[in-house]
Amino acid sequence: MTDDLQALRDETEAALAGATDLRAWDAVRVGTLGKQGRLTGLLKELGKVSPEERRTRGARLNQLKDELTALIETHRTSLDAAALQARLAGERIDVTLPPLPHPIGAIHPLTRTMEEMAAIFGAMGFTVGEGLDVQTDWFNFGALNIPAHHPARADHDTFYLPGARDGRPLLLRTQTSDVQIISMLSQPPPLRVIAPGRVYRADHDATHSPVFHQCEGLVIDQGITLGHLKGCLTDFLRAFFGIATLPVRFRSSYFPFTEPSMEVDIGWNRRTGDLGAGGDWLEILGSGMVHPRVLANVGLDPRVWQGFAFGMGVDRVTMLKHGIPDLRPFYESDMRWLRHYGFNPLQPVALHEGMA
Ligand code: DAH
Repeated sequence: MTDDLQALRDETEAALAGATDLRAWDAVRVGTLGKQGRLTGLLKELGKVSPEERRTRGARLNQLKDELTALIETHRTSLDAAALQARLAGERIDVTLPPLPHPIGAIHPLTRTMEEMAAIFGAMGFTVGEGLDVQTDWFNFGALNIPAHHPARADHDTFYLPGARDGRPLLLRTQTSDVQIISMLSQPPPLRVIAPGRVYRADHDATHSPVFHQCEGLVIDQGITLGHLKGCLTDFLRAFFGIATLPVRFRSSYFPFTEPSMEVDIGWNRRTGDLGAGGDWLEILGSGMVHPRVLANVGLDPRVWQGFAFGMGVDRVTMLKHGIPDLRPFYESDMRWLRHYGFNPLQPVALHEGMA
């Protein structure tokens, strides 16, 4: 190889060695093989030399071109490999480091209970309905067969509000039973609805709060009997408390909007507070067959449609299920209490959770 070709090869190699990034590499490539590149220049000059010399120099130039092309490409490959290595090193995660604390909050026990109710009744074909916190006395009382001056109104320690809607006095609803009326007016039967939500009564001590929660239930269909009510509520209570053998007792009672009406008790041990065995009874919810007058109030023919309804205190069953002795902390937003009694939001509600 003539000296100038050897020099070009050496210089290109040296320039490549110094090209540590793609931009520098490309400058070497263009400076050598590009249109104005040094090798291209030498090839162009071939025309000026004698025919014999052209043959030998031409062959050498072509060989040099192949060599330089290979050198340049090889360098590009190693630059790419080095860049990949650098990226991998930069993205490396040290799996031996302790995890950063990552607070995820907690689900309030009342929210958890309402989610569980929705899951259990949902599996029985119920949908979840909603009422209004500010309601008229007709939805809260009148349509539910509790007319003005009915003694049941006195039991409810109602917060009345100024103003009226549809010519009816306004109040903070004292029970979720308004959803019975809302559901029957807004959709044709058959229907199965539960409605967990806030209710209000002027009452405050360790087991009563002026705002608390109930969950209402309503089934309307043809041929619904007391047997359906008993089966539905027994299944629910056993699933909710996770005790397959939980004793359940139906005791005759009175509610203006159901006939017959029944209070439902579950078995427990009064001394230890344990649910299930123990021989004592604990009242847990109210229920009954929807009163014909309530059906008539929403325009349903009681000879065609029957149903049952029930209502229970969400706070109360939550306290019982989790052994929470005082109702007040439910509403105090004390982070220590919430961390202790709250639920992991990443653990979804499972049906028949922990069924014994
Ligand atoms: N609303 C009643 C209460 O607050 C509870 C209740 C009892 C609801 C019987 C019902 C029922 O739907 O059928 O005490």
